[in-house]
Amino acid sequence: MKITIRLIVSLVLVVALVALVFSLFQVSSERRRLTGELERRSLVLADSLQESISPLIKSNAVSRLNRIVNRFGNRERLNGVAVFDKQGSLLTSTSTLKLGFTKPLAQAIDSVVENRSIGSFMTIDGQRMYICIIPIIGEDNNITGALATFNDISYIDVRLREIWKQNVIRFLILAVLVVFCTILVVKWSITGPIARLAAWVRDLRTAKPETLQPTVPLRGDVLDPLISEVTHMAKSLSIARVRAENEVKLRVQTEPLWTSQSLKTYMQAELAGKKLFLISNREPYMHVKEGTTVKCIVPAGGLVTALDPVMRACDGIWIAHGSGDADREMVDPRNTVRVPPQEPAYALKRVWLTKEEEDGYYYGFSNEGLWPLCHITHTRPDFRLEDWVCYQKVNELFAEALFEEIAHEESPLILIQDYHLALLLFLVKQKRSDARVALFWHIPWPNPESFGICPWRQEILIGMLGADLLVFHIQFFCNNFLDTVDRFLESQIDWEQFAINRGGHTTSVKPFPISVDYNDSLETGGLILDKSETRDSVLKEIGVKSPFIGVGVDRIDYTKGIPERFRAIERFLEKYPEFMEKFTFIELAAPSRDHIRKYRELMAEVEEMVEKINWRFRTKEWKPIVYHKAHHSHEEISKYYRIADVCMVTSLHDGMNLVAKEFIMSCLDHDGVLILSQFAGASRELKDAVIINPYDIEEMAEAIKLALTLEHTEKSERMMRMYTTVKEHNIYRWAGKLIGELAHIRLSDG
Ligand code: F6P
Repeated sequence: MKITIRLIVSLVLVVALVALVFSLFQVSSERRRLTGELERRSLVLADSLQESISPLIKSNAVSRLNRIVNRFGNRERLNGVAVFDKQGSLLTSTSTLKLGFTKPLAQAIDSVVENRSIGSFMTIDGQRMYICIIPIIGEDNNITGALATFNDISYIDVRLREIWKQNVIRFLILAVLVVFCTILVVKWSITGPIARLAAWVRDLRTAKPETLQPTVPLRGDVLDPLISEVTHMAKSLSIARVRAENEVKLRVQTEPLWTSQSLKTYMQAELAGKKLFLISNREPYMHVKEGTTVKCIVPAGGLVTALDPVMRACDGIWIAHGSGDADREMVDPRNTVRVPPQEPAYALKRVWLTKEEEDGYYYGFSNEGLWPLCHITHTRPDFRLEDWVCYQKVNELFAEALFEEIAHEESPLILIQDYHLALLLFLVKQKRSDARVALFWHIPWPNPESFGICPWRQEILIGMLGADLLVFHIQFFCNNFLDTVDRFLESQIDWEQFAINRGGHTTSVKPFPISVDYNDSLETGGLILDKSETRDSVLKEIGVKSPFIGVGVDRIDYTKGIPERFRAIERFLEKYPEFMEKFTFIELAAPSRDHIRKYRELMAEVEEMVEKINWRFRTKEWKPIVYHKAHHSHEEISKYYRIADVCMVTSLHDGMNLVAKEFIMSCLDHDGVLILSQFAGASRELKDAVIINPYDIEEMAEAIKLALTLEHTEKSERMMRMYTTVKEHNIYRWAGKLIGELAHIRLSDG
């Protein structure tokens, strides 16, 4: 639209300029023509009077002259005439003229001396007139004096105004035509074809190679060369994507099973026992006060679930925000504590933040800005300058803590986690170009249009491109990221290699779908539990009597689709009342980010919903939803996974969602069903789940019915296939592959 406006404004300005110049020219020639006409009329008059007034001037017969001039007072467009002597002094004038000439008139003198007529505009008695002075020549051919005609020029002004008016109307008509034609031409030849081209390119981003031809015809003369270039580029891009995907598949097929031990061996052998430095906002162990004692808890969330087993296997230093109220009491002078408390395996270094820093950086910019920005759940992000300032400052604080630890490490291996620390990569690389730095982005990466609304989008991208290796869960997020950089940053993108070069530094962008722990002792040690026994005791503990159990495990977050899930349960009971008193859904909900209004509102909404649904369906000894709002340990959660017939993961948008994978790994008798949102990254790997759209309540209600009535053999075959997938693609394999990739990356600016 901007280009159309620019084009219209410039065309209208040019037309206006031409119209103005033309009008000025027309007005001035019309004025010249009309005054010339006046002069000619005056000369005719002077000629006709010459003979009679010349002797009278000579003899100074003023009263006779007066009679003559008065006869000419009332002619059309003539206000009167006056007679001057040779010296330019007024002899007489038409009586209606109020001439106050006390001195000789300069123009009259000039006319006599130069023997020519002189015309000029003058205001007499408040009225503008055109005065024409003509020398009077006697019989002896000598000049005897001068005759002046005083002409009414109001009609000239009227005529000139008329010309201006007509030209303005002409200009307006022309301007409207120009605007109209420009819009039509631009739409037909430029914006229309560009919009179609953009739509096609957008389709291509996700399309398969066989749909490389545009779905609508693309025509647009001027754009033809561009269309042909884009077609070539689209082909190369598509081929590159297919290659990348094949490569991932190939890598996957040839791998042995990774365990905690093989990761340890790998780190020692391949990396010469190099330490791993892991940095995240969330700490893996949090010390909190409980009365007079201090308790150590493991915070909820995928990051800790995935990375604690890795750090246990690798040793190294995990740097994170010390957010527990007893954290300071537990650290040494380097702010470090060995964890896990029962069998210390690695060091946790805590970074301290003031309340204001935590507010601006964690609650504000990270979780009210970047979190909703990257999750397409229709929750509007809030960006505030003061939060952004805090975010930058805290990223610097993390950098200082890291520099302290890597001061004596040569080419340290650094693994930075998530959207809280997007700027840290650049800060690290600036000071330690020998470091090998990777960023793992745990949440989705949106399309460029969505990301583009962030006021500091370029700064964030530049920060992230400090990484040597940038990792997302799935190929789709990598594609989105490259598209975003392509849109907003000056850089070179290698679509074949999925790499970005900016200022001589190269960042490789790769998908590594994160996963969960795999503990072979559970299988080999014969720890498969008797489901009915466990079920009875667990259900007894919470006072539930129900043959079918559903489970949900979430941080209370608007991205998890908790209200949608409860609506589906309500609809399921409405449609299939035979499941009344036979199905109970246990929701283990961990409060999260509760200083943010949207999270508090969600908590209230969810509680109200549970109350409403339970009130509607409850019987004396049964209710459909058991809602446990509390922090739950992994041991507690896996108890519920094991007894569940169905686990529901209904995220509206999710990077991966490790609840889905944890459920599969805990369900050792392979007798459960996973209902999984198509918008969770996990749905790309777990094809045997019952895949649903969480916005479609009917579909979800049907999915619950299917899960509870699925034949045992099919249930266990599906579960077995998913179990094998997760087992083979466990977190040790993820870490081994990712760290291996980072360790062998060629540093571009080291
Ligand atoms: O998955 C995104 C993430 O921020 C993880 O980094 C973290 O494990 C989880 O969400 C929990 O969030 P928070 O650290 O804000 O409690």
